[in-house]
Amino acid sequence: MRLFKTTLLLLATQASASHLQLPFQSTLSSWFGRPIGPSRIPTFILDTQHPWVEQHRNQLERVPNVRELLCNPESIQVSAPGFPDPIPIPNDIFSSLYVDNNRAGISRLGWNNALHRLREIQACPAALRTCESLNVDIYRHGGSEWDDTWEPATPPAELPGLFADVLSQMPKLKKFDWVRPSDSGEYGLQVGTTVSSFVKGFAERNLTLPAVEHLLLGPGCESFVSMCPNLTTLETGGGLAWPHWYSWSNETDPYMALVRAAAGVKNITAFTMSTQSWRPELLEAVLESMPHMTTLKIHGALDGHQRYSMEEDAEKLKTLLPIITRFPHLQHLDLPPVYELGVGFDGGDPCGNAYFGESGREYARSVALQSLHATEKATNITLPYMPPTLKTLTIGETTVNLDPPAGPGAIAS
Ligand SMILES: *[C@@H]1O[C@H](CO)[C@@H](O)[C@H](O)[C@H]1NC(C)=O
Ligand SMILES: *[C@@H]1O[C@H](CO)[C@@H](O)[C@H](O)[C@H]1NC(C)=O
Ligand SMILES: *[C@@H]1O[C@H](CO)[C@@H](O)[C@H](O)[C@H]1NC(C)=O
Ligand SMILES: *[C@@H]1O[C@H](CO)[C@@H](O)[C@H](O)[C@H]1NC(C)=O
Ligand SMILES: *[C@@H]1O[C@H](CO)[C@@H](O)[C@H](O)[C@H]1NC(C)=O
Repeated sequence: MRLFKTTLLLLATQASASHLQLPFQSTLSSWFGRPIGPSRIPTFILDTQHPWVEQHRNQLERVPNVRELLCNPESIQVSAPGFPDPIPIPNDIFSSLYVDNNRAGISRLGWNNALHRLREIQACPAALRTCESLNVDIYRHGGSEWDDTWEPATPPAELPGLFADVLSQMPKLKKFDWVRPSDSGEYGLQVGTTVSSFVKGFAERNLTLPAVEHLLLGPGCESFVSMCPNLTTLETGGGLAWPHWYSWSNETDPYMALVRAAAGVKNITAFTMSTQSWRPELLEAVLESMPHMTTLKIHGALDGHQRYSMEEDAEKLKTLLPIITRFPHLQHLDLPPVYELGVGFDGGDPCGNAYFGESGREYARSVALQSLHATEKATNITLPYMPPTLKTLTIGETTVNLDPPAGPGAIAS
């Protein structure tokens, strides 16, 4: 599998991205009755995987000016076989756009893909006008020793400016995901190599994104927070893009950097962070940076707590709880699954074989009961610390509703 991918990418370094697609696409199109040759539909539109586009792909491929039809629908009248006249184009084709070479089924070079997709988007007025969510995941090949293809750490010179131009022309952009490129890899942060080009390019244009309310960031990208004055929801994303170890100093911790950056915008009410390094000073910093928080999702492990352990050690949980008490507006709290909270439950055998057959069913039943018991125990430990504003407490998959149900008594009081 990996060999196959590598070969493809080596091909891509020799030819341009469009040459790369040709042999596969022409074979596929002749099978499915599409015209032979590269698609007439711009790749960024195919990347949306919008159901209407997928469903009408064959007809659309036969419309000679399909790009104009989709991107500038007011400007031209096209009638096409298999479509009613006028063609009823859904108005949400461009609501989610992707600059992403890291999705299943996509084998493209990171920088090259970003340049081509952004140029396509820039040339498509309807996309700029209506895009509400932009997902950026530029996987730069060559970041690990396992990767035979290499791309430079520094983006092409025109890319940051092109990004800024496109972003500043998207008045409806509400959700912005920037997972990569980031200044990180599996082996830790390499501070200031990749993201700084974008930070500098955006700052030179004084880029602000006033419509953005929801920002999802990979590591080392915290300086994007201050571009979004109307931000209400901040989230970490990108999974493995974040470094795994947890013994950071407060100064080098990329999670701490994100939390501190959040202090720069005033209205964040929801914060979700997944890290192996939840510890008191990190949670204190969350409280200080985002005092208006109503929804807090603590994902990951508590300060490097040993997962899947039967050992009873809720000390790590107990050092965090008094800080949670002090969140003045907290309504919804998510804690990690119960097997990560140190209440003496290891989550059961992670191996599926243990659950097969007669004895397997018996084992599954006992694991389910232990899980319930452990969740009750964790709830018992946690509840006394919950602020009076709290409405729901979620531990792993289990949600406890703390809003008193409105019964006859509620009316009397
Ligand atoms: C950005 O803002 C600075 C200071 O407000 C100003 O001097 C500069 O001309 C602005 N740059 C652009 C590209 O608007
Ligand atoms: C924030 O969003 C509101 C509309 O939701 C808009 O009127 C306002 O201009 C935005 N704020 C900033 C600082 O751009
Ligand atoms: C924060 O929210 C309040 C109330 O919703 C609003 O009046 C204020 O303009 C917002 N501040 C910013 C910076 O968007
Ligand atoms: C982080 O700072 C706190 C005080 O704010 C200190 O107690 C703690 O030891 C520091 N942690 C690390 C890992 O440097
Ligand atoms: C949780 O607390 C209740 C009430 O004090 C108690 O009856 C129950 O046994 C406790 N559950 C566990 C698992 O500790």
